Amino acid sequence: MLRIVVLVSGGGTNLQAILDAIDAGRITNAEVCAVISNNPGVYALTRAENKGIEGIVISPKQFETRAAFEEAYLEKVQSYEPDLVVLAGCMVVIPKKMVEAFPNRIINIHPALIPSFCGTGFYGLHVHEKVLERGVRVTGATCHFVDDGTDTGPIILQKAVYVQDGDTPEVLQRRVMEEAEWKIMPEAINLIANGKVRVEGRKVIIDDYTFGKI
Ligand code: GAR
Repeated sequence: MLRIVVLVSGGGTNLQAILDAIDAGRITNAEVCAVISNNPGVYALTRAENKGIEGIVISPKQFETRAAFEEAYLEKVQSYEPDLVVLAGCMVVIPKKMVEAFPNRIINIHPALIPSFCGTGFYGLHVHEKVLERGVRVTGATCHFVDDGTDTGPIILQKAVYVQDGDTPEVLQRRVMEEAEWKIMPEAINLIANGKVRVEGRKVIIDDYTFGKI
């Protein structure tokens, strides 16, 4: 059974997609042990509580220095001895020590097709604002392993989503979530939980898998 700790910062719709996929048997051999938020009072914590999963807050505001926050954040994650750390709408820049402690065992969902619209400053709604400003016709989402760069780790799954004339950032964000994020993140977790995913250098190999099914 793959032990998962989910790191969140906000509404937690990606967390919900993971929990629903476990309930529906679309993710097998995996359990969510804890949900850790850097922000108090967010709905992601309520979603965890509704499932009887422990929800914990570790906020930078509780600490005098960034280093002290990062140490506590890592210690809390490690205390659950996870096999996989899942960043599901997590807006914390993951500390280097966390990446080193979990090599190729942290995954993130990014709301665009990496390497477009990613890196520093590209998070949440801002990504969709930039996509609309640039006028691209296709965007999407990427599920990838986390390395010590920003959105630079090996790519596991991607899914494309069309931009429509008249889209607002909010409308586009919702479509990218529904059509891509809530599908590829649970799918990636299921593949990892069932031993199908390996990393070779910067590339991910998935055994016996046909892309484009979901
Ligand atoms: C999602 O769109 C996720 O891809 C994005 O924030 C949103 C969180 O929504 N994450 C990032 O931008 C990370 N760089 P959620 O809290 O409802 O899952």
